[in-house]
Amino acid sequence: MRALVLLLTAACLAGAQHQALIDYLERRLLAIEDRITLWHEQTTRYAAELRELKQQMVAQLDNLDKEKESLRLNLDGVGARVDRVEREMDYMETQNGAPPCVDVDDKLVEQQVTQVKERNKARYAQLSDCSEMISSIKAMKIVKKLGGPKGMWTKDVGGASGKVYVLNGTDQGTVYEFASLQDFTGSPDDASLARALSLPSLWQGTGHLVYQHHLYYVSDQLRVLKYDLRNASLADSVVFPAADHVPVYGLTPETVIDLAVDEEGLWVVHATRRNLPHISLAKMDARTLDLEQSWDTPCPTENAEASFVICGTLYVVYNTPQPGRSRVQCVFDVNGLVSGEEAPLVYFPKRYGAHSSLKYNPREQLLYAWDDGYQMVYRLVMKPKLEV
Ligand SMILES: *[C@@H]1O[C@H](CO)[C@@H](O)[C@H](O)[C@H]1NC(C)=O
Ligand SMILES: *[C@@H]1O[C@H](CO)[C@@H](O)[C@H](O)[C@H]1NC(C)=O
Repeated sequence: MRALVLLLTAACLAGAQHQALIDYLERRLLAIEDRITLWHEQTTRYAAELRELKQQMVAQLDNLDKEKESLRLNLDGVGARVDRVEREMDYMETQNGAPPCVDVDDKLVEQQVTQVKERNKARYAQLSDCSEMISSIKAMKIVKKLGGPKGMWTKDVGGASGKVYVLNGTDQGTVYEFASLQDFTGSPDDASLARALSLPSLWQGTGHLVYQHHLYYVSDQLRVLKYDLRNASLADSVVFPAADHVPVYGLTPETVIDLAVDEEGLWVVHATRRNLPHISLAKMDARTLDLEQSWDTPCPTENAEASFVICGTLYVVYNTPQPGRSRVQCVFDVNGLVSGEEAPLVYFPKRYGAHSSLKYNPREQLLYAWDDGYQMVYRLVMKPKLEV
């Protein structure tokens, strides 16, 4: 009996121990489950925080990109302003009589004095069988600051008057005539000292020229007009024959037809849809405005800003859409004496804006340029065509 009680007690004890173990294990399991739930929650929270952080970073990166862009734009703006200040300084130097390129200025003034003496010599006519090509650009001078970003200025080429003409803008109708270069440079920065001539129709682009007392210009209907500057009257006009015209210079889209003059007379630089992407060239009779002959050049219109003709050779000047240094990068000689490979790559001396027009004066061997409202001249160095 005692033994049985002992056994039962032992069994009870064992049962109680077992229960305690089970209880303990259950508590542990609950605790572990709690921890797992906690981890789960934490992981979810971390994941959410990480996502949020990522989103913030993307937003910040976007902001950084925007800031970088605006910084770049600001830098570009500063660059342009530095260019402008530099040019202003060059211009002020010109005005204050400490010219950086004395030789050009002196030659220009000298030209006025000797022109009268030369008048009867007809030296100009003898130049017509010329055979020279550009070797380099020797000097540059900022002569004046007048008018808007685009325009054209020139002396009367082939006339001995020494008068200076200014056609400000790309779609206007008033020509300013200055009696001499000194009048032009010495005048205030407006056109108050000039004689203003009202043309019978507005001009289009910057392709005009002044040749032997006449202004040749292109109106918006692609009509070439010849205007007598002495008695302010229309002398002649023709509709330019070729159809399907497109702007001739990719970087000066206002100019559909550009007129040029050299030792041999008048030229028309233009582009038609048929000959794209190349520029076409035609010789024009200055008296009758008839087209005498035409050529397709290998020079592309893309990134061209202007051109000029010397001794029957077309020089096309290229730049970049964000104005950099202008350069002659394509040459076409109607006589076949200068091939593209032989022609030197001619760089313009300084980096400013872009040329909206370049007009060659054969008598002075100067280029008259309009660069963002500044009137400049470039002096050319020539060499014989066949000497390579
Ligand atoms: C030149 O043309 C611009 C527009 O292209 C005009 O704002 C400016 O007043 C003109 N200047 C003169 C002197 O005619
Ligand atoms: C203008 O002058 C030229 C040359 O002197 C002359 O041929 C022309 O008939 C004149 N025009 C007018 C309208 O007077």
